[in-house]
Amino acid sequence: MKVLVAGSHGKIGRRLVSRLAADGHKAIAMIRDPSQAEELRVRGGQPLVADLAQDVAFAVEGCDAIVYTAGAGAGSGAAKKQTVDRAGAEKLVDAARRHGVRRYVMVSSIGAHDPGSARGPMRPYLEAKQQADKYLAASGLDYTIVRPGRLTDDGGDGRIEASLELGRRGDVPRDDVATTLLAVLSDDRTIGLTFELFDGATPIADALDRLVKTAGRP
Ligand SMILES: NC(=O)c1ccc[n+]([C@@H]2O[C@H](COP(=O)([O-])OP(=O)(O)OC[C@H]3O[C@@H](n4cnc5c(N)ncnc54)[C@H](OP(=O)(O)O)[C@@H]3O)[C@@H](O)[C@H]2O)c1
Repeated sequence: MKVLVAGSHGKIGRRLVSRLAADGHKAIAMIRDPSQAEELRVRGGQPLVADLAQDVAFAVEGCDAIVYTAGAGAGSGAAKKQTVDRAGAEKLVDAARRHGVRRYVMVSSIGAHDPGSARGPMRPYLEAKQQADKYLAASGLDYTIVRPGRLTDDGGDGRIEASLELGRRGDVPRDDVATTLLAVLSDDRTIGLTFELFDGATPIADALDRLVKTAGRP
């Protein structure tokens, strides 16, 4: 599979690029700063310079899938969250439709189902995430929306909890998020699902299997 990773130099993105390459996939590593290219090459990715604040449609050409794990970051204001967390993701949805890329996996966030109950800067962040999620879900693309809990840099153990029930709280290592994203890309039964992701006790493949069965998929 040829997979465009938006946010590839981010903490999840870097891990995902390594996992995609190790699994024999071609990872197109979108970056806006050319000085990040070498690290992504070392991880087995193919760097592509594109800024989500500009036109990025060209980046999806020839890809089989997109993973959106870009984000404006904690210190950014509401305007930046609209530019990156919402508009950037939506631009790639439009580009995917135009160029016939069917598969799109979104890294969203817990709380995106109910931004109204968030306080301070979390509210515009979750509003932007919810808007992007809704846009993707209505796009007709083969989407999966993954909503991780609070991200940590703890080492992953390949065990998670994946839940269709929204509104829970908890942590999850970025390591395990990246591994779950790869597993989602490889499992078409997750198409059309939105789920929350936490650290847990169940091996990722089993957790996804349970998730799709709970969702009534064969
Ligand atoms: N923090 C949490 O607890 C939490 C919880 C749930 C979900 N999430 C979501 O998880 C995702 C990934 O998290 P993370 O920790 O890996 O984030 P991260 O390390 O901050 O990475 C975000 C990436 O997005 C890129 N980016 C920002 N603006 C861009 C632009 N205009 N064009 C191209 N790329 C751009 C950044 O590039 P630069 O290197 O150039 O800045 C960076 O590489 C984010 O969407 C985040 O909202 C976070």
